[in-house]
Amino acid sequence: MNDRSMGDLREQTWVVTGAAGAVGTPLVADLAGRVGRLVATDLDAPRVPDGVESVAADLRDQDAVAAVLAGAHGVVHLGGIADEADLHDLAEVNVVGTYHVLEGARRAGVRRVVFASSNRSTGCYPCDVPVHPSMPPRPDGVYGAMKVAAEALCQLYADKFGLATVAVRIGSYEERPANLRHLSTWLSPADCLRAFRAAMSAPDVGYACFYAVSANTRGWWSLEPGAALGFVPRDDAEEFAAGIPDAGSTMRGPQGGEFATPEYTLSRQRH
Ligand code: NAI
Repeated sequence: MNDRSMGDLREQTWVVTGAAGAVGTPLVADLAGRVGRLVATDLDAPRVPDGVESVAADLRDQDAVAAVLAGAHGVVHLGGIADEADLHDLAEVNVVGTYHVLEGARRAGVRRVVFASSNRSTGCYPCDVPVHPSMPPRPDGVYGAMKVAAEALCQLYADKFGLATVAVRIGSYEERPANLRHLSTWLSPADCLRAFRAAMSAPDVGYACFYAVSANTRGWWSLEPGAALGFVPRDDAEEFAAGIPDAGSTMRGPQGGEFATPEYTLSRQRH
């Protein structure tokens, strides 16, 4: 095992932030039997399966975050505001909060942080442009811009401090695809678990970034960086196309669709 491999997760302590959320709840259930000690945290102490520890911590509170990370080998950082919102709130929770996780991890000697980033960091690329994580960000709103900032912090902590960090750009996490955009962006619940398991355990990671998206026939994002870490999605939104009214048409304009409109951002700013 080299320095940057995680080794056996059954001998380790992992913390999951945002553990009460849509992605966190099933992820905690999945990891409960795979990780030696699992600590689930959210604004309020989350409901957890037997054997999992549950702790309340606000990501804006640096001391509270540091206390949760004590003794951890790895962190899956899902917590935050999960959609467009006032920039000041996004900066405080999603950027400063991520800094608290990374800095807490550095001080506690944590080896790896897996960060839930978003496809919305590149949502202003047109639908006909295949996107690879090495391309410059083109966020489709201030939520996406703050994800870009948090990804940059992940890169910084890898380059400067040797903390392994993996930015997982989640597609559209849904039980099943519900609209034309989802035919390109859907991340099935099962593929989501595959993506996070790979990000947690892939060997030899410094900084990595990949799209967590199912193997959609109409997909826009390269699956190669995920495959390099062992993430191989198995589901395809196309199997549900018959139930989507405009599935016969081709999506045009920015990949973010409605999220990329000016109104979507402006209507959520306080001033
Ligand atoms: P969610 O909104 O269901 O869960 C986020 C959790 O973060 C919530 O339980 C919330 O209580 C917690 N949280 C919010 N502010 C907090 C604070 N100040 N301190 C501590 N905890 C706080 O979101 P979901 O869908 O589970 O997403 C998880 C992560 O994945 C988020 O970071 C989101 O931005 C990202 N993501 C999700 C996508 C999706 O399709 N669900 C797509 C792209 C990215």
